[in-house]
Amino acid sequence: MKNLLKSFLLLSLILVLNSCGREDGPRLSVSNDSPGLGLQSAPNGLVSYDQVKYIFKNVCANCHKPGGNQPDWTDEKAAIEYAKTKGQKLKMKVVARQGGEMPMAPFQDKVTDEERQLIGKWVDSENGLVESISPAPNSSTVDTSPGIGLPPHLNFVQTCYGCHGNNGLSQTPGIPNLAGLSPQYLQSTINDFIQKRRSDSMMTPQALQLSPLQLEDLMLFIPNLKIEPVKSIENIDLYNKGQQISKMFACTSCHVGADLKPIDGSIPNILYQDKKYLENQFNAFVNGDRESTMMAGTIDMMKNTEGFDITDPENAKALAEYFGSYKDNEN
Ligand code: HEC
Ligand code: HEC
Ligand code: HEC
Repeated sequence: MKNLLKSFLLLSLILVLNSCGREDGPRLSVSNDSPGLGLQSAPNGLVSYDQVKYIFKNVCANCHKPGGNQPDWTDEKAAIEYAKTKGQKLKMKVVARQGGEMPMAPFQDKVTDEERQLIGKWVDSENGLVESISPAPNSSTVDTSPGIGLPPHLNFVQTCYGCHGNNGLSQTPGIPNLAGLSPQYLQSTINDFIQKRRSDSMMTPQALQLSPLQLEDLMLFIPNLKIEPVKSIENIDLYNKGQQISKMFACTSCHVGADLKPIDGSIPNILYQDKKYLENQFNAFVNGDRESTMMAGTIDMMKNTEGFDITDPENAKALAEYFGSYKDNEN
């Protein structure tokens, strides 16, 4: 009986969606008879909380805050509980855009139709209304390759991944991870490229092509990219030397705060960053190829410390080895 009611509600929802005439053909598949109907996750049937969390974090959390008056969707337990008890309300508001979409109006365009349906499918999944089709191992329908699940408005990030690695984890020496960078630093450093305060033959043209809206979207998206924790130490002597120099000049006082994050959003994360990139950037500060008022004090101090030779190329390598494979509790 209960299931019958649910099916009825879902059916009405489909009718509502289709009568909107946004697109031909059915767009919300309830069962999994027709996988691939415009849903990225369709081949896999079930949609997990993890697959929609980024929407909650990036869009909804602007208003739905922890401890606020509205449900906090970033709280996994509470969100799942809500989906199970009041899922229809969520679907009416977000998927069907009925019954008071008004409050989120300023953010409406930040959620695509595909993402709305993904949320609907997640609600269905939590309520056991979507069959799980267990994927065959190595099945080509299973999206295991990172980056492919990008929402449509972020398709351009595929280009970034081309150099910066899937999910912003660089595989190329000299090219930095994008994972781990704060929105604030991202914005300021992209602007540095645009205004020629920083320059790089590969990256400058990329920065110049970004629209302000794309940069805004990136600032919401980049924090979702998780940095791979500890990379292995390749040369323990260099690592120890780097640690010693870091202690001498208090690099971690800015670059490593609580939770291993920099103390401030304006300071870049350098932990587990590509080592060759770290070395290059450090040398760029020393040579004056890259300017930074915040780094200048440290560089000056290094230049003026007796018995420390900042021009010795091994120092930059040592610092890069240290921060590139940083171990917690050792600063
Ligand atoms: C601009 C602010 C804002 C944004 C962004 C926003 N909401 Fe809301 N939301 C509200 C306000 C205010 C209410 C309470 C008023 C109402 O229910 O209409 C609300 C209520 C709701 C409710 C009903 C809660 C209840 O049980 O009473 C749901 C469901 C909901 N929002 C879902 C979402 C989802 C999902 C997102 C992200 C895709 C989102 N909202 C984004 C402001 C926002
Ligand atoms: C053709 C290769 C290439 C592409 C494509 C590319 N980048 Fe880069 N990017 C680089 C290189 C190389 C650097 C390092 C520049 C330097 O050494 O100063 C860099 C640096 C950066 C930095 C600075 C990181 C830091 O820690 O300061 C950011 C941010 C960045 N890229 C973002 C992006 C974004 C966003 C895109 C996609 C819109 C993108 N890049 C596309 C090559 C690329
Ligand atoms: C007073 C705070 C502060 C201290 C101390 C400091 N830094 Fe920085 N560092 C910054 C800031 C801010 C930036 C970003 C500069 C910019 O883009 O203008 C930065 C940038 C960097 C970068 C480039 C990272 C990237 O993603 O492009 C490296 C490498 C770096 N610092 C290494 C070090 C090392 C090594 C030390 C110690 C010898 C150190 N820093 C000490 C604030 C600091």
